Amino acid sequence: MEEIRIVLPKIPDFHKLDVYEQNGGYQSAKKAFGMSSDDVIDIVKKSGLRGRGGAAFSAGLKWSFMPKGNDKPKYLAINGDESEPGSFKDRQIFEDNPHQMIEGILIACYAIGAKTAYIYIRGEYHKWIYMVQKAVDDAYEAGYIGEKMKEKFGTDFSCEIHVHKGAGAYICGEESALMNSLEGHRGYPRIKPPFPAQRGLWGNPTTINNVETITNVPKIIEKGWEWFSSIGAQKHPGTILFGLSGHINKPGVYEIPSGILLTELLEKYGGGVPGGKKIKCVIPGGSSMPPLRGDSLEGIRMDADSLRDAGSAIGTAGVMVMDEDTNLLKVLLRITKFYHHESCGQCTPCREGTGWMEKALKRMADGNGTSKDLDMLESVAKNIEGNTICALGDAAAWPVKFMIQRFRNELEEYLNPEVTLTVKNKVHSMRNTVNPLKDFVR
Ligand SMILES: Cc1cc2nc3c(=O)[nH]c(=O)nc-3n(C[C@H](O)[C@H](O)[C@H](O)COP(=O)(O)O)c2cc1C
Ligand code: SF4
Repeated sequence: MEEIRIVLPKIPDFHKLDVYEQNGGYQSAKKAFGMSSDDVIDIVKKSGLRGRGGAAFSAGLKWSFMPKGNDKPKYLAINGDESEPGSFKDRQIFEDNPHQMIEGILIACYAIGAKTAYIYIRGEYHKWIYMVQKAVDDAYEAGYIGEKMKEKFGTDFSCEIHVHKGAGAYICGEESALMNSLEGHRGYPRIKPPFPAQRGLWGNPTTINNVETITNVPKIIEKGWEWFSSIGAQKHPGTILFGLSGHINKPGVYEIPSGILLTELLEKYGGGVPGGKKIKCVIPGGSSMPPLRGDSLEGIRMDADSLRDAGSAIGTAGVMVMDEDTNLLKVLLRITKFYHHESCGQCTPCREGTGWMEKALKRMADGNGTSKDLDMLESVAKNIEGNTICALGDAAAWPVKFMIQRFRNELEEYLNPEVTLTVKNKVHSMRNTVNPLKDFVR
Protein backbone atom coordinates (compact mmCIF):
# COMPACT_ATOMS: atom_id res chain seq x y z
CA MET A 1 0.00 0.00 0.00
CA GLU A 2 1.25 3.45 -0.94
CA GLU A 3 2.80 5.53 1.86
CA ILE A 4 0.71 8.58 2.74
CA ARG A 5 1.54 10.75 5.72
CA ILE A 6 -1.09 13.19 6.94
CA VAL A 7 -0.59 13.54 10.68
CA LEU A 8 2.98 12.30 11.10
CA PRO A 9 4.99 13.59 8.12
CA LYS A 10 8.56 12.36 7.88
CA ILE A 11 10.13 15.82 8.13
CA PRO A 12 12.98 16.32 10.62
CA ASP A 13 12.20 18.77 13.45
CA PHE A 14 8.63 19.22 12.25
CA HIS A 15 7.59 19.94 15.85
CA LYS A 16 9.47 23.24 15.70
CA LEU A 17 7.47 26.27 14.66
CA ASP A 18 9.94 27.52 12.05
CA VAL A 19 10.12 24.12 10.34
CA TYR A 20 6.33 23.84 10.42
CA GLU A 21 6.05 27.33 8.86
CA GLN A 22 8.61 26.48 6.15
CA ASN A 23 6.42 23.54 5.18
CA GLY A 24 3.22 25.53 4.74
CA GLY A 25 2.25 25.61 8.41
CA TYR A 26 -0.71 27.78 9.46
CA GLN A 27 -1.63 28.45 5.80
CA SER A 28 -4.67 26.16 6.07
CA ALA A 29 -6.01 28.24 8.95
CA LYS A 30 -5.58 31.37 6.83
CA LYS A 31 -7.45 29.64 4.00
CA ALA A 32 -10.25 28.52 6.33
CA PHE A 33 -10.66 31.99 7.84
CA GLY A 34 -11.33 33.23 4.28
CA MET A 35 -14.32 30.88 3.98
CA SER A 36 -17.64 30.86 5.80
CA SER A 37 -17.78 28.65 8.88
CA ASP A 38 -20.53 26.60 7.21
CA ASP A 39 -18.27 25.93 4.23
CA VAL A 40 -15.49 24.71 6.53
CA ILE A 41 -17.91 22.35 8.27
CA ASP A 42 -19.17 21.17 4.90
CA ILE A 43 -15.66 20.36 3.67
CA VAL A 44 -14.87 18.36 6.81
CA LYS A 45 -18.21 16.59 6.54
CA LYS A 46 -17.68 15.68 2.88
CA SER A 47 -14.13 14.51 3.56
CA GLY A 48 -15.60 11.64 5.56
CA LEU A 49 -13.23 12.27 8.50
CA ARG A 50 -14.38 10.13 11.43
CA GLY A 51 -13.32 10.48 15.04
CA ARG A 52 -10.14 8.68 16.04
CA GLY A 53 -10.98 8.62 19.76
CA GLY A 54 -12.97 5.38 19.67
CA ALA A 55 -16.48 5.85 18.34
CA ALA A 56 -15.51 6.80 14.74
CA PHE A 57 -18.26 9.42 14.56
CA SER A 58 -18.26 11.91 11.64
CA ALA A 59 -16.25 14.97 12.69
CA GLY A 60 -18.05 17.38 10.36
CA LEU A 61 -21.46 16.16 11.47
CA LYS A 62 -20.50 16.62 15.11
CA TRP A 63 -19.38 20.19 14.39
CA SER A 64 -22.70 20.88 12.64
CA PHE A 65 -24.57 20.04 15.87
CA MET A 66 -23.17 23.18 17.50
CA PRO A 67 -25.87 25.86 17.67
CA LYS A 68 -25.42 29.01 15.64
CA GLY A 69 -25.45 32.48 17.20
CA ASN A 70 -23.35 34.06 19.88
CA ASP A 71 -25.75 34.26 22.80
CA LYS A 72 -23.65 31.73 24.73
CA PRO A 73 -19.90 31.08 24.80
CA LYS A 74 -18.86 27.93 22.92
CA TYR A 75 -15.98 25.63 23.64
CA LEU A 76 -13.76 23.07 21.98
CA ALA A 77 -12.08 20.38 24.07
CA ILE A 78 -9.33 18.24 22.60
CA ASN A 79 -9.17 14.80 24.12
CA GLY A 80 -5.58 13.73 24.76
CA ASP A 81 -6.33 11.63 27.82
CA GLU A 82 -5.17 8.49 26.00
CA SER A 83 -5.40 6.05 28.87
CA GLU A 84 -6.85 3.01 27.11
CA PRO A 85 -4.39 0.12 27.50
CA GLY A 86 -2.77 -0.51 24.11
CA SER A 87 -3.19 3.11 22.93
CA PHE A 88 -0.19 5.38 22.58
CA LYS A 89 -0.66 7.25 19.30
CA ASP A 90 -1.78 10.74 20.40
CA ARG A 91 1.48 11.26 22.25
CA GLN A 92 3.29 10.76 18.94
CA ILE A 93 1.41 13.79 17.60
CA PHE A 94 2.21 15.79 20.76
CA GLU A 95 5.86 14.98 20.17
CA ASP A 96 6.22 15.20 16.40
CA ASN A 97 3.47 17.45 15.10
CA PRO A 98 1.93 19.70 17.79
CA HIS A 99 1.53 22.71 15.49
CA GLN A 100 -0.68 20.84 13.04
CA MET A 101 -2.88 19.90 16.00
CA ILE A 102 -2.95 23.57 17.08
CA GLU A 103 -3.80 24.65 13.54
CA GLY A 104 -6.60 22.07 13.48
CA ILE A 105 -7.90 23.55 16.73
CA LEU A 106 -7.93 27.07 15.23
CA ILE A 107 -9.89 25.84 12.21
CA ALA A 108 -12.36 23.86 14.35
CA CYS A 109 -12.89 26.82 16.71
CA TYR A 110 -13.60 29.02 13.72
CA ALA A 111 -16.02 26.50 12.23
CA ILE A 112 -18.04 26.00 15.42
CA GLY A 113 -17.72 29.56 16.71
CA ALA A 114 -15.67 28.73 19.82
CA LYS A 115 -13.48 31.36 21.40
CA THR A 116 -11.78 28.99 23.84
CA ALA A 117 -10.21 25.58 23.41
CA TYR A 118 -8.72 23.20 25.95
CA ILE A 119 -6.19 20.50 25.22
CA TYR A 120 -6.77 17.88 27.93
CA ILE A 121 -3.70 15.66 28.34
CA ARG A 122 -3.33 12.64 30.58
CA GLY A 123 -1.47 13.53 33.77
CA GLU A 124 1.26 10.91 33.35
CA TYR A 125 2.33 12.44 30.01
CA HIS A 126 4.74 14.88 31.72
CA LYS A 127 7.14 15.15 28.81
CA TRP A 128 4.36 15.57 26.25
CA ILE A 129 2.49 18.14 28.35
CA TYR A 130 5.68 20.15 28.40
CA MET A 131 6.14 19.76 24.63
CA VAL A 132 2.57 20.79 23.82
CA GLN A 133 2.75 23.77 26.19
CA LYS A 134 5.97 24.88 24.47
CA ALA A 135 4.31 24.65 21.04
CA VAL A 136 1.27 26.63 22.30
CA ASP A 137 3.56 29.27 23.84
CA ASP A 138 5.53 29.57 20.59
CA ALA A 139 2.33 29.88 18.56
CA TYR A 140 1.03 32.58 20.94
CA GLU A 141 4.29 34.48 20.63
CA ALA A 142 4.23 34.29 16.85
CA GLY A 143 0.64 35.61 16.82
CA TYR A 144 -1.08 32.39 15.66
CA ILE A 145 -3.23 32.18 18.82
CA GLY A 146 -5.01 34.89 20.83
CA GLU A 147 -5.75 38.51 20.03
CA LYS A 148 -2.67 38.85 17.82
CA MET A 149 -4.08 36.35 15.33
CA LYS A 150 -6.44 39.03 14.01
CA GLU A 151 -3.44 40.89 12.71
CA LYS A 152 -1.47 37.79 11.73
CA PHE A 153 -4.27 36.27 9.66
CA GLY A 154 -6.06 39.50 8.75
CA THR A 155 -9.32 38.25 10.26
CA ASP A 156 -11.89 39.29 12.86
CA PHE A 157 -11.66 35.87 14.47
CA SER A 158 -9.52 35.00 17.47
CA CYS A 159 -9.46 32.25 20.08
CA GLU A 160 -7.49 31.18 23.12
CA ILE A 161 -5.96 27.73 23.74
CA HIS A 162 -5.20 26.29 27.19
CA VAL A 163 -3.29 23.12 28.00
CA HIS A 164 -4.92 21.19 30.86
CA LYS A 165 -3.28 18.33 32.71
CA GLY A 166 -5.43 15.41 33.85
CA ALA A 167 -4.82 13.63 37.13
CA GLY A 168 -4.38 10.06 35.98
CA ALA A 169 -7.96 8.80 35.77
CA TYR A 170 -8.92 6.72 32.71
CA ILE A 171 -12.54 7.78 33.06
CA CYS A 172 -11.61 11.42 32.34
CA GLY A 173 -11.13 10.38 28.70
CA GLU A 174 -14.89 9.87 28.47
CA GLU A 175 -16.08 13.15 27.03
CA SER A 176 -18.57 14.19 29.72
CA ALA A 177 -16.22 13.15 32.55
CA LEU A 178 -13.53 15.18 30.79
CA MET A 179 -15.79 18.22 30.91
CA ASN A 180 -16.51 17.71 34.62
CA SER A 181 -12.78 17.38 35.22
CA LEU A 182 -12.08 20.58 33.26
CA GLU A 183 -14.67 22.37 35.37
CA GLY A 184 -12.80 21.29 38.47
CA HIS A 185 -15.22 18.57 39.57
CA ARG A 186 -14.74 14.86 40.09
CA GLY A 187 -14.46 13.08 36.73
CA TYR A 188 -17.97 11.60 36.73
CA PRO A 189 -19.59 10.94 33.34
CA ARG A 190 -22.86 12.79 32.78
CA ILE A 191 -26.11 11.24 31.64
CA LYS A 192 -26.76 11.90 27.93
CA PRO A 193 -28.81 13.57 26.55
CA PRO A 194 -28.19 16.46 26.79
CA PHE A 195 -25.19 16.01 24.52
CA PRO A 196 -22.17 18.33 24.78
CA ALA A 197 -23.24 20.42 21.76
CA GLN A 198 -26.45 21.24 23.66
CA ARG A 199 -25.05 21.46 27.18
CA GLY A 200 -21.33 21.05 27.62
CA LEU A 201 -18.69 22.97 29.54
CA TRP A 202 -20.30 25.21 32.18
CA GLY A 203 -23.65 24.45 30.53
CA ASN A 204 -22.55 25.88 27.18
CA PRO A 205 -22.29 24.29 23.71
CA THR A 206 -19.11 22.23 23.47
CA THR A 207 -17.43 19.98 20.91
CA ILE A 208 -15.00 17.28 21.98
CA ASN A 209 -12.56 15.81 19.48
CA ASN A 210 -9.65 13.45 19.74
CA VAL A 211 -6.09 14.73 19.09
CA GLU A 212 -5.63 12.66 15.92
CA THR A 213 -9.03 13.67 14.55
CA ILE A 214 -8.27 17.37 14.83
CA THR A 215 -4.72 17.01 13.46
CA ASN A 216 -6.17 15.76 10.15
CA VAL A 217 -8.16 18.94 9.61
CA PRO A 218 -5.49 21.34 8.24
CA LYS A 219 -4.54 18.87 5.49
CA ILE A 220 -8.21 18.46 4.52
CA ILE A 221 -8.54 22.22 4.18
CA GLU A 222 -5.26 22.45 2.27
CA LYS A 223 -5.80 19.59 -0.18
CA GLY A 224 -9.59 19.39 -0.33
CA TRP A 225 -12.18 16.86 0.79
CA GLU A 226 -11.96 14.91 -2.48
CA TRP A 227 -8.30 14.15 -1.82
CA PHE A 228 -8.93 12.99 1.74
CA SER A 229 -11.99 10.93 0.95
CA SER A 230 -10.07 9.03 -1.75
CA ILE A 231 -7.54 7.66 0.75
CA GLY A 232 -8.07 4.22 2.29
CA ALA A 233 -11.45 2.71 3.08
CA GLN A 234 -14.32 4.52 1.37
CA LYS A 235 -16.54 4.81 4.45
CA HIS A 236 -13.73 5.49 6.90
CA PRO A 237 -11.20 7.40 4.84
CA GLY A 238 -7.79 8.83 5.60
CA THR A 239 -4.86 7.35 7.40
CA ILE A 240 -5.03 5.82 10.86
CA LEU A 241 -2.31 5.78 13.49
CA PHE A 242 -2.03 2.10 14.37
CA GLY A 243 -0.29 1.33 17.64
CA LEU A 244 1.21 -2.16 17.53
CA SER A 245 2.09 -3.81 20.83
CA GLY A 246 2.45 -7.18 22.49
CA HIS A 247 4.05 -10.17 20.77
CA ILE A 248 5.21 -8.35 17.68
CA ASN A 249 8.75 -7.89 16.38
CA LYS A 250 8.46 -4.18 15.61
CA PRO A 251 6.03 -2.54 18.04
CA GLY A 252 5.30 1.15 17.51
CA VAL A 253 3.01 3.69 15.89
CA TYR A 254 2.43 3.36 12.13
CA GLU A 255 0.50 5.81 9.98
CA ILE A 256 -1.17 3.79 7.24
CA PRO A 257 -4.28 4.32 5.06
CA SER A 258 -7.36 2.82 6.67
CA GLY A 259 -8.58 -0.49 5.33
CA ILE A 260 -5.20 -2.23 5.35
CA LEU A 261 -5.44 -5.98 5.88
CA LEU A 262 -4.77 -6.82 9.53
CA THR A 263 -2.44 -9.63 8.45
CA GLU A 264 -0.45 -7.19 6.27
CA LEU A 265 -0.26 -4.72 9.14
CA LEU A 266 1.15 -7.38 11.44
CA GLU A 267 3.53 -8.97 8.95
CA LYS A 268 4.76 -6.12 6.76
CA TYR A 269 4.82 -3.34 9.33
CA GLY A 270 5.02 -5.24 12.62
CA GLY A 271 7.56 -7.75 11.29
CA GLY A 272 5.50 -10.73 12.48
CA VAL A 273 5.53 -12.54 15.80
CA PRO A 274 8.83 -13.19 17.63
CA GLY A 275 10.12 -16.72 17.10
CA GLY A 276 7.68 -17.18 14.21
CA LYS A 277 5.04 -18.34 16.69
CA LYS A 278 1.36 -18.54 15.82
CA ILE A 279 -1.03 -15.81 16.89
CA LYS A 280 -3.62 -16.87 19.45
CA CYS A 281 -5.48 -13.58 19.84
CA VAL A 282 -5.51 -9.99 18.57
CA ILE A 283 -7.36 -7.09 20.15
CA PRO A 284 -7.56 -4.60 17.28
CA GLY A 285 -8.61 -1.32 18.91
CA GLY A 286 -7.38 -0.97 22.50
CA SER A 287 -8.11 -3.34 25.40
CA SER A 288 -11.85 -2.66 25.55
CA MET A 289 -12.60 -3.93 22.04
CA PRO A 290 -13.77 -7.50 21.34
CA PRO A 291 -10.77 -9.82 20.86
CA LEU A 292 -10.34 -11.73 17.59
CA ARG A 293 -9.12 -15.32 17.25
CA GLY A 294 -5.70 -15.69 15.67
CA ASP A 295 -7.08 -18.28 13.25
CA SER A 296 -9.76 -15.87 11.98
CA LEU A 297 -7.64 -12.88 10.94
CA GLU A 298 -7.42 -13.63 7.23
CA GLY A 299 -9.22 -11.01 5.14
CA ILE A 300 -10.04 -8.61 8.00
CA ARG A 301 -9.48 -4.99 7.09
CA MET A 302 -8.63 -2.25 9.55
CA ASP A 303 -11.45 0.25 9.31
CA ALA A 304 -14.55 0.80 11.40
CA ASP A 305 -17.04 -1.03 9.17
CA SER A 306 -14.87 -4.02 8.27
CA LEU A 307 -13.97 -4.60 11.91
CA ARG A 308 -17.60 -4.29 12.96
CA ASP A 309 -18.48 -6.93 10.37
CA ALA A 310 -15.68 -9.11 11.75
CA GLY A 311 -17.17 -8.86 15.25
CA SER A 312 -14.90 -6.25 16.76
CA ALA A 313 -14.30 -2.49 16.48
CA ILE A 314 -11.58 -0.07 15.42
CA GLY A 315 -11.61 1.78 18.79
CA THR A 316 -8.33 3.65 19.11
CA ALA A 317 -6.55 1.32 16.64
CA GLY A 318 -4.27 0.05 19.39
CA VAL A 319 -3.51 -3.45 18.07
CA MET A 320 -2.51 -5.89 20.83
CA VAL A 321 -1.01 -9.16 19.65
CA MET A 322 -0.86 -12.36 21.74
CA ASP A 323 1.05 -15.41 20.62
CA GLU A 324 0.13 -19.08 20.99
CA ASP A 325 1.76 -19.35 24.44
CA THR A 326 -0.31 -16.58 26.00
CA ASN A 327 -2.42 -17.43 29.04
CA LEU A 328 -5.65 -15.69 28.07
CA LEU A 329 -7.10 -16.13 31.55
CA LYS A 330 -4.29 -13.99 32.94
CA VAL A 331 -4.78 -11.45 30.15
CA LEU A 332 -8.48 -11.23 30.93
CA LEU A 333 -7.80 -10.88 34.65
CA ARG A 334 -5.33 -8.05 33.99
CA ILE A 335 -7.73 -6.22 31.69
CA THR A 336 -10.65 -6.63 34.10
CA LYS A 337 -8.57 -5.48 37.06
CA PHE A 338 -7.88 -2.28 35.12
CA TYR A 339 -11.55 -1.52 34.41
CA HIS A 340 -12.56 -2.37 37.96
CA HIS A 341 -9.94 0.02 39.26
CA GLU A 342 -10.98 2.76 36.84
CA SER A 343 -14.76 2.45 37.31
CA CYS A 344 -15.97 5.77 38.75
CA GLY A 345 -18.59 3.91 40.82
CA GLN A 346 -21.66 5.88 39.79
CA CYS A 347 -23.64 2.96 38.37
CA THR A 348 -24.20 -0.30 40.20
CA PRO A 349 -23.71 -2.73 37.27
CA CYS A 350 -20.29 -1.26 36.49
CA ARG A 351 -19.16 -0.61 40.08
CA GLU A 352 -20.17 -4.04 41.40
CA GLY A 353 -19.96 -6.09 38.21
CA THR A 354 -16.35 -5.18 37.41
CA GLY A 355 -15.39 -6.21 40.96
CA TRP A 356 -17.26 -9.53 40.73
CA MET A 357 -15.61 -10.30 37.41
CA GLU A 358 -12.16 -9.52 38.76
CA LYS A 359 -12.77 -11.67 41.85
CA ALA A 360 -14.03 -14.61 39.81
CA LEU A 361 -11.17 -14.34 37.32
CA LYS A 362 -8.63 -14.18 40.15
CA ARG A 363 -10.10 -17.32 41.67
CA MET A 364 -9.96 -19.03 38.30
CA ALA A 365 -6.40 -17.90 37.64
CA ASP A 366 -5.48 -19.29 41.07
CA GLY A 367 -6.73 -22.70 39.92
CA ASN A 368 -10.06 -22.67 41.75
CA GLY A 369 -12.45 -22.14 38.86
CA THR A 370 -15.06 -24.28 37.18
CA SER A 371 -16.52 -23.97 33.72
CA LYS A 372 -19.68 -22.81 35.48
CA ASP A 373 -17.70 -19.72 36.42
CA LEU A 374 -17.37 -18.94 32.73
CA ASP A 375 -21.15 -18.97 32.38
CA MET A 376 -21.51 -16.81 35.46
CA LEU A 377 -18.87 -14.36 34.17
CA GLU A 378 -20.56 -14.11 30.80
CA SER A 379 -23.87 -13.45 32.49
CA VAL A 380 -22.36 -10.68 34.67
CA ALA A 381 -20.75 -9.12 31.58
CA LYS A 382 -24.05 -9.18 29.70
CA ASN A 383 -25.77 -7.51 32.65
CA ILE A 384 -23.23 -4.68 32.67
CA GLU A 385 -23.29 -4.12 28.90
CA GLY A 386 -25.70 -1.39 27.87
CA ASN A 387 -26.91 -0.77 31.42
CA THR A 388 -24.59 2.01 32.50
CA ILE A 389 -24.23 5.78 32.21
CA CYS A 390 -21.08 5.64 30.10
CA ALA A 391 -19.31 3.17 27.84
CA LEU A 392 -16.76 2.12 30.46
CA GLY A 393 -19.30 -0.51 31.42
CA ASP A 394 -19.20 -1.92 27.87
CA ALA A 395 -15.42 -1.56 27.84
CA ALA A 396 -15.21 -3.83 30.88
CA ALA A 397 -17.88 -6.26 29.66
CA TRP A 398 -16.78 -6.84 26.07
CA PRO A 399 -13.35 -8.40 26.67
CA VAL A 400 -14.92 -10.84 29.15
CA LYS A 401 -17.98 -11.68 27.08
CA PHE A 402 -16.15 -12.11 23.80
CA MET A 403 -13.10 -13.83 25.26
CA ILE A 404 -15.43 -16.47 26.75
CA GLN A 405 -17.46 -16.80 23.56
CA ARG A 406 -14.42 -17.03 21.30
CA PHE A 407 -11.83 -18.77 23.47
CA ARG A 408 -13.86 -21.02 25.74
CA ASN A 409 -11.73 -24.10 25.04
CA GLU A 410 -8.50 -22.22 25.82
CA LEU A 411 -9.93 -20.79 29.04
CA GLU A 412 -11.21 -24.17 30.16
CA GLU A 413 -7.66 -25.50 30.01
CA TYR A 414 -6.94 -23.51 33.17
CA LEU A 415 -9.95 -24.78 35.06
CA ASN A 416 -9.47 -27.63 37.47
CA PRO A 417 -12.06 -30.39 36.97
CA GLU A 418 -11.59 -31.36 40.62
CA VAL A 419 -13.42 -28.21 41.69
CA THR A 420 -16.64 -29.22 39.99
CA LEU A 421 -17.42 -31.36 43.07
CA THR A 422 -19.96 -29.82 45.39
CA VAL A 423 -19.88 -30.59 49.12
CA LYS A 424 -21.57 -29.25 52.20
CA ASN A 425 -19.81 -26.16 53.41
CA LYS A 426 -18.41 -26.83 56.89
CA VAL A 427 -19.40 -23.50 58.37
CA HIS A 428 -22.73 -22.95 56.65
CA SER A 429 -23.60 -26.60 56.50
CA MET A 430 -26.89 -26.17 54.71
CA ARG A 431 -25.28 -24.55 51.71
CA ASN A 432 -23.46 -26.19 48.86
CA THR A 433 -20.05 -24.94 47.94
CA VAL A 434 -17.89 -25.36 44.88
CA ASN A 435 -14.64 -25.26 46.86
CA PRO A 436 -12.31 -28.21 46.30
CA LEU A 437 -13.07 -31.26 48.37
CA LYS A 438 -9.44 -31.51 49.33
CA ASP A 439 -9.72 -28.23 51.32
CA PHE A 440 -12.15 -29.93 53.68
CA VAL A 441 -10.49 -33.29 54.11
CA ARG A 442 -7.61 -33.28 56.56
C1 LIG B 1 -14.13 5.25 29.39
C2 LIG B 1 -13.84 6.03 28.15
C3 LIG B 1 -12.57 6.55 27.93
C4 LIG B 1 -12.30 7.29 26.79
N1 LIG B 1 -11.04 7.78 26.61
C5 LIG B 1 -10.77 8.51 25.50
C6 LIG B 1 -9.48 9.07 25.30
O1 LIG B 1 -8.56 8.89 26.09
N2 LIG B 1 -9.28 9.82 24.19
C7 LIG B 1 -10.29 10.06 23.29
O2 LIG B 1 -10.07 10.78 22.32
N3 LIG B 1 -11.51 9.54 23.45
C8 LIG B 1 -11.78 8.79 24.53
N4 LIG B 1 -13.04 8.31 24.72
C9 LIG B 1 -14.09 8.67 23.72
C10 LIG B 1 -14.65 10.06 24.04
O3 LIG B 1 -15.74 9.91 24.94
C11 LIG B 1 -15.14 10.78 22.78
O4 LIG B 1 -15.98 9.93 22.07
C12 LIG B 1 -14.01 11.23 21.86
O5 LIG B 1 -13.05 11.98 22.54
C13 LIG B 1 -14.59 12.06 20.74
O6 LIG B 1 -13.60 12.46 19.83
P1 LIG B 1 -13.63 11.99 18.30
O7 LIG B 1 -15.04 12.12 17.84
O8 LIG B 1 -12.70 12.91 17.63
O9 LIG B 1 -13.18 10.56 18.29
C14 LIG B 1 -13.33 7.53 25.85
C15 LIG B 1 -14.60 7.00 26.07
C16 LIG B 1 -14.85 6.25 27.19
C17 LIG B 1 -16.22 5.68 27.40
S1 SF4 C 1 -20.25 2.94 33.55
FE1 SF4 C 1 -18.77 2.82 35.19
S2 SF4 C 1 -17.35 4.46 34.78
FE2 SF4 C 1 -19.19 4.90 33.55
S3 SF4 C 1 -20.45 6.20 34.85
FE3 SF4 C 1 -21.07 4.10 35.30
S4 SF4 C 1 -19.79 3.49 37.07
FE4 SF4 C 1 -18.87 5.31 36.16
